[in-house]
Amino acid sequence: MDYKQHIAKKLVVDGVSEAEIYSAIALPPNSDMGDYALPCFKFAKVLRKSPVAIAEELKNVYVCDETISEVSAVNGYLNFKVNKTGLAEATLKEVLDAGENYGSSETGKGKTICIDYSSVNIAKPFHIGHLSTTVIGGALYKIFGFLGYKVVGINHLGDYGTQFGKLICAYKRWGNRDDVQKGGIHAINDLYVRFNTEATPEMEAEAREYFRLIESGDKEANELFEWFKSLTLEYVKVIYEKLNITFDSYAGERFYTDKMQSVIDELREKNLLKSSEGAQIVDLEEYGMPPCLILRSDGASLYATRDLAAAEYRKKTYDFYKCLYVVAYQQNLHFKQFFKVLELMGKEWAKDLVHVAYGMVSLEDGAMSTRKGKVVWLEDVIARCEEKAYAVIDEKNHGLENKKEIAQTVGLGAVIFGALYNNKIKDITFSYDKVLSFEGETSVYVQYTCARANSVLLKSGVKEKPPKGYEPNAQEFEVIKSIAAFPETVKDAADKYEPSVIARYAVDLAQKYNKFYIDCKILTAEGETKDFRLALTRAALQTLKNALKLLGIGVPEKM
Ligand code: ARG
Repeated sequence: MDYKQHIAKKLVVDGVSEAEIYSAIALPPNSDMGDYALPCFKFAKVLRKSPVAIAEELKNVYVCDETISEVSAVNGYLNFKVNKTGLAEATLKEVLDAGENYGSSETGKGKTICIDYSSVNIAKPFHIGHLSTTVIGGALYKIFGFLGYKVVGINHLGDYGTQFGKLICAYKRWGNRDDVQKGGIHAINDLYVRFNTEATPEMEAEAREYFRLIESGDKEANELFEWFKSLTLEYVKVIYEKLNITFDSYAGERFYTDKMQSVIDELREKNLLKSSEGAQIVDLEEYGMPPCLILRSDGASLYATRDLAAAEYRKKTYDFYKCLYVVAYQQNLHFKQFFKVLELMGKEWAKDLVHVAYGMVSLEDGAMSTRKGKVVWLEDVIARCEEKAYAVIDEKNHGLENKKEIAQTVGLGAVIFGALYNNKIKDITFSYDKVLSFEGETSVYVQYTCARANSVLLKSGVKEKPPKGYEPNAQEFEVIKSIAAFPETVKDAADKYEPSVIARYAVDLAQKYNKFYIDCKILTAEGETKDFRLALTRAALQTLKNALKLLGIGVPEKM
């Protein structure tokens, strides 16, 4: 049950919607005053009254019930005390009944969300810079799905551009089929790097010619291009599988080759296209932005042209409710520009396009040598995390079975969680030791808490039956409240496009469970107390698992 909703429904404030009240209700860090609180400062302006007076008035009309047992007004806050027994009973029942569906809902029923994420560049390294878009997008995919939305994951492949002419040129000169087939993306990348360091003006001209050949449908050039593309996809799909990431479409930039003309025609019809030094642009000066380039002077299309066509195509194909682009903030201007162009074209749905921007990831040991020199390949980061996880686990629990598998789950979790834990817009420094710590705010900590809870339940060996009428003590009640907040946490993460909300939640619940675990005996408790604590343990474990699953992270039974 959503307690915030229960409270919000009963509060009537003139000129303020129930949704606004709902989102204003908070869980105070210290529950001495109340379990939920409504700060009334926000309404002072609309109501032309002091927060103190508002809180006082609201308190006088609020009628308590079996859910909320006490209301008080203190310093402009309206504080609610929850009926502990009732909340504990309802929450445990809900979690144990729903199991892995606990926290899910039908909020998004009938709505489609497109998520453009990971969007790798063919024949270029899949490097640490792609980590955030891949795991943030992957988590949003799961979160919206959990809320009942139909989700379409789109990998908007970077498979268009002159670099493919260069690659063919390099391959023809230095490459051979077997080496590339065997070496895959690494061999392809070597060729590309070599071209960029050794190319002569003649080779540059040759590369342009090869690109023209791809464009004009030349058979050999296209076969080579498709081969490079399939090798790249084969490679990235292995990583996606490890990270628990799925896509419903791999329609990349090239897919829009024949879909751009209609956009260009429409721009022209609507008088939005201007010539500028031979190029075709949409002037955005009025909106304080540089022009959006649509066609270069040689007639070639641009990144933005393809994004315009892609947005139009997605609207037509999926009739999305929202279309998200999980792309680094370096591209802020690009998204602002092409969203504006669509708006100027009169597409009312332009408002439903969202750039979900995120910050940069760098490695703590920036100089980490990889096979490829400067670029840090994502596969190497993952492999290193798995290796380190193995060492950490081996040290902690040498006799553990399936150490290798467990280390994989833990290592992958650390990679994902490390990239997700901070507010997404922040630049982060990825540190292997930090993400693999048993004690920090890490997935390892959460997984370890799960293993601990699991071991309690295994030792007890009976099916949990939560008692009726039990009044939880302080530590137990903290865990209950946190568990009860999971469904609204999932919604909050979706509203903010912010998986870190769930990551932080998981750490917080784990901390509360651990406090309870240390302060209260479970297996040696008796009667109702024992029954309650076992059920609480089961519910906490289930909720932590559900939270991690939404981030793409598994939970080992033992650690
Ligand atoms: N491939 C691009 C890059 O690596 C990201 C594409 C993002 N999606 C989009 N529709 N523009 O920078």
